[in-house]
Amino acid sequence: MKTTVRTNFDESAGAYAAYEAATGQFSTLAARLATEMADRDDGSLGCLLDAGAGTGASATPLESKSETVVPLDMSRAMLAQHPSARRVQGDFDALPFPAGSFDAVAFTASLFLTPSPATALREARRVLSDGGVVGAVAPEGWYIDGTDVFQQVDRESRSPSSTTAVREAFEETVDTVSGTWGLEVTAEQLRQFYQIPAVAARVYPRLAPEARVERVETLLADIDGTGEQRWRWMVGQ
Ligand SMILES: C[S@@+](CC[C@H](N)C(=O)[O-])C[C@H]1O[C@@H](n2cnc3c(N)ncnc32)[C@H](O)[C@@H]1O
Repeated sequence: MKTTVRTNFDESAGAYAAYEAATGQFSTLAARLATEMADRDDGSLGCLLDAGAGTGASATPLESKSETVVPLDMSRAMLAQHPSARRVQGDFDALPFPAGSFDAVAFTASLFLTPSPATALREARRVLSDGGVVGAVAPEGWYIDGTDVFQQVDRESRSPSSTTAVREAFEETVDTVSGTWGLEVTAEQLRQFYQIPAVAARVYPRLAPEARVERVETLLADIDGTGEQRWRWMVGQ
């Protein structure tokens, strides 16, 4: 499954960067997460690991609350767009760093992409120094005019791990505080999000990238209006 996730993101770097340029949603999430994490860590996050850093949407907001940010991602194509010279290609389920290397680990929209969030969180805890802080955001769904989009179209959008599974793993690993955010969205933004091949794979996992993007475009064509994309945040020590 992990190879599939990596391949899906390798095919998604352009569409992902275009979506972020149009919406700024991932940098908004990273900024909010960094604030929640810093609030529990004396205001500064020291040396931070950006786990699942992607194309770099989370870079600036995380840097504003840290001394150093090390971006790590398993997708070479996503990481190739990342502006940081410190970027590392690797798997956050088996981190290529010694114990106690970081003061903070942030998973901005990435922890639900591993089939075993508990493994990733154990690794995060291993590389954290004493008192270090770990944070994550995971999706709770798209609601247009108050209704879950995927109930309106009667089709599931499934990730390797559910947000419930991520939260349970978090609570088993660290002393956790958690809450939800709603980002304002339009139906047009929903459709652009599902034009990212790695995202369309949540709905049509067996189809090739172009075919899955076409199918999901048809599926969502009649959705209209405005609403929110809901995210659950978790921070622990
Ligand atoms: C939805 S993107 C989020 C990227 C970035 N954090 C942001 O906010 O824009 C998720 C990223 O997590 C990466 N990823 C997923 N599973 C991973 C793993 N096991 N190890 C490292 N990176 C992973 C993907 O390659 C992808 O770039």
